[in-house]
Amino acid sequence: MFEKVEDYPVDPIMIGADYFAQDPRADKLNLTVGIYQDGDGNTPVLHAVKLAEQRLIETQTSKSYLALTGDAEYCRALGHQILGMDIYDSLVAAQTAGGAVALRVMADLLAQIPDSPTVWLQTPTYGNYVPILIAAGARFQAVPYYDPILREIMFEQMLDGLKEARTGDVFLMQGVCHNPTGADMKPAQFDALLNLLEKKGVVPWIDLAYLGFAQSFAADCDMAHKIAARFPECIICITLSKSFGIYRDRAGALFVKTNPQDRAHMQRALSAIVRSGASHAPDHGPSVVRTILEDASLKKLWLSELDQMRMRVTKVRKDIVATEARDFGRNDLGYLAYQSGMFSLLPLTVDQEKVLTQNHGIHIVKGGRINVARLTANDIPHLIRAFHSATSNS
Ligand SMILES: Cc1ncc(COP(=O)(O)O)c(C=O)c1O
Repeated sequence: MFEKVEDYPVDPIMIGADYFAQDPRADKLNLTVGIYQDGDGNTPVLHAVKLAEQRLIETQTSKSYLALTGDAEYCRALGHQILGMDIYDSLVAAQTAGGAVALRVMADLLAQIPDSPTVWLQTPTYGNYVPILIAAGARFQAVPYYDPILREIMFEQMLDGLKEARTGDVFLMQGVCHNPTGADMKPAQFDALLNLLEKKGVVPWIDLAYLGFAQSFAADCDMAHKIAARFPECIICITLSKSFGIYRDRAGALFVKTNPQDRAHMQRALSAIVRSGASHAPDHGPSVVRTILEDASLKKLWLSELDQMRMRVTKVRKDIVATEARDFGRNDLGYLAYQSGMFSLLPLTVDQEKVLTQNHGIHIVKGGRINVARLTANDIPHLIRAFHSATSNS
């Protein structure tokens, strides 16, 4: 029977990790990973998380099942933090195993709506959206978002592509620190996009994965807040993997703003979809997050640790640009200083990507994505030299 199983495409990020493991060179460099790393190449457990975990061990009295949509207290603490109390009352909420499950639950729901809406996606965007939408059986179409060669957002082309969207369709965008481009819309562009979505009756779907990595946790929630305050219906998916450094503990949430008369049946729909798929979300990561958000001193500590992660990423970006100018007399990578978050795209052809990996041992995600958080001070000149060599030889 299993011989009939078709060959499944594997996420390029995972393929990249495999290639890296097989590379025998001692000085190889893995820029494929989608996690924060400090200057020593570690992904530390935050002190605030450790303290919250200790508190949970001492105080937790049961590990029985939660509701299918999770711990209402966790959803409320998170929703209040990100969107504010007033908006939270108009939402349907579910605790999910990270952001990927929040996305999948929503994709399932959209696919099951009669005359299901089309989900409009940016190109390029997070590599797991399409597999999730396909697995759910949801309809989707793409509009341009970013030109890696020009190193800029294709804003007019994106709006132009959305002219085809129908009322009731959905536009899936990211909050801050766009993955994989690092290029976020300017506030005026974001406002113009919302004007268009509103005019066309397209429902915004915002995916928040890097809150705190652009300007600050509070400022990075602005886009979601603006959407939820303005639109009668919208979708918000969140992962806390990066903001709390709890990748494997799987903390996320799905918030859906609905018209008041739709809330009860939407809550039942979300419960039913969760039951038949992911079933109950894990508790540990979300309980850590709730404990931190509900305690002023833990929250202060967490926010300062998040600030440190953001400042490191910003510094690496600036160091790349300064090193290229000072030691190489060039500014090919100057755009990195204006982008945000862990990821950016190197403007490379497929052949140039191969040169980077084969000749220089630098592993990046297909399409040119690098994780700047992975770079140590010594890696920076190595990357610049390899990039110049790859782009001048082919
Ligand atoms: C934009 C975006 N959305 C969602 C996710 C999924 O997060 P998680 O792995 O916590 O489910 C990621 C993870 O990298 C991401 O970059």
